[in-house]
Amino acid sequence: MGRPAAFLFTSVVVVAASTALLPHVVWSFASVVPPICSCRSPLPSSPRRFLPRLQYTVSDYLNNLHNIDDDDTFDKVLIDSDAFDKQHTGDNDIITPMSWGGGNRISKNMYRVALPSTLLQELRNYANKMGITDFYRSLVIDGPPYNPGQEKSVSFQEQNWMVHRPKSHWKSNMHWLSPADETAHDDYLTILSAGGFDKVLESIGAYFNLNGLSAYHLSFIGVSQCERGFIHTDVNDSGVMAFNLIIPLMLVDGESPELEILSDDETMTRFYQYEYNVASMIGDDALHATASCDYMSKGEMRICATVYVGDITTTNVRNLLMSLTQAYPPVGNAKHLLDRAGDHWSKTDVSKRLPVPVHN
Ligand SMILES: *[C@@H]1O[C@H](CO)[C@@H](O)[C@H](O)[C@H]1NC(C)=O
Repeated sequence: MGRPAAFLFTSVVVVAASTALLPHVVWSFASVVPPICSCRSPLPSSPRRFLPRLQYTVSDYLNNLHNIDDDDTFDKVLIDSDAFDKQHTGDNDIITPMSWGGGNRISKNMYRVALPSTLLQELRNYANKMGITDFYRSLVIDGPPYNPGQEKSVSFQEQNWMVHRPKSHWKSNMHWLSPADETAHDDYLTILSAGGFDKVLESIGAYFNLNGLSAYHLSFIGVSQCERGFIHTDVNDSGVMAFNLIIPLMLVDGESPELEILSDDETMTRFYQYEYNVASMIGDDALHATASCDYMSKGEMRICATVYVGDITTTNVRNLLMSLTQAYPPVGNAKHLLDRAGDHWSKTDVSKRLPVPVHN
């Protein structure tokens, strides 16, 4: 699907910055719309830690864009999108830190993960078969979307799901679809299994030297229009033991990078372009946002799967509870998460794996 090659990336970013992003930003500024939030968990009312980036103004942002140089070239060359399907020698071929300008890591817990190509096929087929793709089309292309802040039960193939649209000040038509109970969650897990996600769990476990892993929070996200997204985190302080993998299923060709990343020191932003068969993996306190986009005129949309994986322990379970934003797993229930710790991969027990599909 012709994503731009690494050596073209600087010019792509510059062109995107000066043509595509700029009008949105100026427009937001002119109409005094606050930065929007596409975050999974809302920010507290007085976020001390987050103050600097709340003050990260539109003019800072524009200055940042004008200062673009070689350092902004995303190091795409460090990972091969079919690395997973090739004979690989170790987990270092599968997982790489996200970096720009020749190894410059601005956000230490942002990674890229090569995926088996079967995963994309399985997840796409699942989204199509369940009616999720059509549902997204009805929401963000044909309309009408749900009301901002609205959350509703929906049923796909007699399974209980939830659709959720962020509140109005987020100014995005992103909706999240998530399994609403354990049956629907487990069904989604079998698709990950069929797609070869066990091997991904194994790579993550080995790379971070974990004891066990569970895929504990699953969703699909879809969007066709977003003003500049609000910077947020998905997981905090898990002890580098929990991550959100964003897996692109449907991308819009020829558009600017989809993910904005703020450096750990909150002084600069960089952009990351999604790629099929590569997940962006967001770890502890990694600040990021949906980059602005507008696919409406093309009548297109972007859909990704999101899979939170974690080594759930009594030490980090309270922090992992903070990452829950859906009907399932139940918010605030530490025991529920701990009961499922290490269910899908274990360093020492090969019987721990994702549930296998029962039907074909
Ligand atoms: C991470 O910490 C920030 C700042 O305390 C908080 O606003 C946010 O909700 C937390 N997010 C998660 C996913 O724990």
